Amino acid sequence: MIKIADRVKNLPPYPFAGLERRLRELKALGKDIIRLDIGSPDLPPPDYVIEAMYRSAQDSSHHGYAGYYGTPEFRRAVAVYYERRFGVNLDPDKQVVALIGSKEGIANAALAFVDPGQAVLVPDPGYPTYTLGTLLAGGNPVPVPLLEHDRFLPDLEAIPPDAARSATILWLNYPNNPSGAVAPLEFFERAVAFARRYDLLICHDNPYCDVTFDGYRAPSLLQVPGAMDVTLEFNSLSKTYNMAGWRVGMAVGNAAAVDALAKTKTNIDSGIFRPIQDASVLVLTGDQAWLDERNGIYRKRRDIILAALREMGVQADKPVASLYIWARTPAGLSSGQYAARLLDEAGVSVTPGTVFGDRGEGYIRISLGMDTDRIREAMRRWKKVVL
Ligand SMILES: Cc1ncc(COP(=O)(O)O)c(C=O)c1O
Repeated sequence: MIKIADRVKNLPPYPFAGLERRLRELKALGKDIIRLDIGSPDLPPPDYVIEAMYRSAQDSSHHGYAGYYGTPEFRRAVAVYYERRFGVNLDPDKQVVALIGSKEGIANAALAFVDPGQAVLVPDPGYPTYTLGTLLAGGNPVPVPLLEHDRFLPDLEAIPPDAARSATILWLNYPNNPSGAVAPLEFFERAVAFARRYDLLICHDNPYCDVTFDGYRAPSLLQVPGAMDVTLEFNSLSKTYNMAGWRVGMAVGNAAAVDALAKTKTNIDSGIFRPIQDASVLVLTGDQAWLDERNGIYRKRRDIILAALREMGVQADKPVASLYIWARTPAGLSSGQYAARLLDEAGVSVTPGTVFGDRGEGYIRISLGMDTDRIREAMRRWKKVVL
């Protein structure tokens, strides 16, 4: 019998991997499922990006290993993007590393910064990889509650000083998945002060910074004066540019942190396919005006869903950013039960809040990454579910 490592035996399965299996079974039974569960943009990137990838792939010299840290052009393009978008200056050689999607970097960050047994402060609810990556590294995830009455910002002063002292990373993520909450720069200032007080690295995960509505502009945590001393920011082309399947992202910020992550990564992977990086350079440095139109489509979907939820008496805040609506489950049903009823009776797949941690109980997450007509159809079917 083969032996599986304890760290894998004890690891819960990645929630969406299990869901995909269940959905395949339902599909095989002939059920039409509308997937509002996963945050994968349904729209493609602009044609010029796809063409750039194709052109680059036609160059016979672009099929070897493309280098470990990201091509110099890719890292420069990230620096240009950060300068234009946030007014943050980055040294492309020391403060930028390319990632095979930010999820890869988030998981590898645990190997880079967490020793076995060490505490990591993770938001609850939060993107599962902060916790699962920590567990893979043998670390100890310490949930930091994100509560509705605090607008889903952590109460930093409520974190027990002993937990903060023993921790190595504070994970933050605004615009937030799953709650759709946003953080004012003033909160990031307090987070930087907190990180200094306890010698923490802030890992700020910012993949939704360009998925925003109603005139809201999301900041980078690196805009806070002095943040560069204590911050590694993760970002991604997945949501910003509709490129989730391309697997390309970046970690930027503190040079020593970038170096440690790069050292980990370069022992594990061998970089990103050159044509993907070449196309990414164009999209990062090109005209960003199309994002307004794309965000207008998401906004319309958001409003369709919110109007239907309101009609049904389901409570949800109106998010000004992210791909998600975080809705309350009706009284008497758990998140899992409500999601199961919607799947079985309406063929609508939403994510139970508990996928994101214990404090996700009482909520479901609805994604905007689905064709608008299918969203309308999903809400029509949803309204027929009698509780
Ligand atoms: C908060 C958050 N971080 C990171 C990711 C991973 O994005 P990617 O690996 O595609 O860059 C996601 C994807 O849903 C996310 O929601």
